[in-house]
This record gives sequence, structure tokens and C-alpha cells, in this order.
Amino acid sequence: MRAFTAVSAGAIKVIKKVSGSFYSLEKLHRLVDGYRQVFNIGGRSLLLIQEDGQRYLLENRCPHAGHPLHDSTYENGSLRCPLHGIQFHLESGLALNVENFPVDKCLMFFRLSYRDNEIGVML
Ligand code: FES
Repeated sequence: MRAFTAVSAGAIKVIKKVSGSFYSLEKLHRLVDGYRQVFNIGGRSLLLIQEDGQRYLLENRCPHAGHPLHDSTYENGSLRCPLHGIQFHLESGLALNVENFPVDKCLMFFRLSYRDNEIGVML
């Protein structure tokens, strides 16, 4: 069984592949608004967040210039990247406060999966 490392502000935990291609990320009861955790899975850096009761799993990389998004600021359904301040809508992934920002440069989301009392991702 392969194991992967999850890193957040001071916390490190091992992520186990439960079965098939399901990677368990977190116990459901630990998800509350403001939750953020970075997972390194197979060389990919993924960010799991919950805001306003909604859960998102996205690439931990700003579409503008690649800055990590785990320190971004949440405002009205969007994340503001700390490097240049571009806001990205969490539902559409599109940039909100920049005119003519390329629509193909948006947040990259991953579909969340649920198994018993755990949330994870199929990769
Ligand atoms: S790298 Fe995120 S706004 Fe520029």
C-alpha cells in the first residue's frame, strides 16, 4: 500500500489509499467552515477547504503565476491569492477582479468522493 503525506500549518499526517483509486483525505466530522488542508498525492498538491458549508478540492496552485493558494483569503465565495490579489470564484473557478483574464486559466477542481465517514478523492 502506498502512503502520501499531507501538510498544513504545522500538521503532518499520512494519507492512505483505502481501496481502488480512492484516497481518504479527512473524517467528515473534522470539516468545518475555515477548514484548510494541503495534501501531496502522487506529486500533486491539492487543497481541501470548506467555506459556508461548501467543500472544495482544488489544485493548490494559482492559475495566474502558480503561487500556492493555501494562504489565500476567503471573501464572498471566492479565494484571493496572496501574491497579486487576484480573486477566483469558488463555484466557476474564474478570475473576478481582472479584466480580460483568460477563461482557460481558472481554478482546477477535483470531484470529492465519500466513503462511510470519510471524504476523499478518486485519482
Ligand atoms: S500568482 Fe496568484 S494572483 Fe498572481
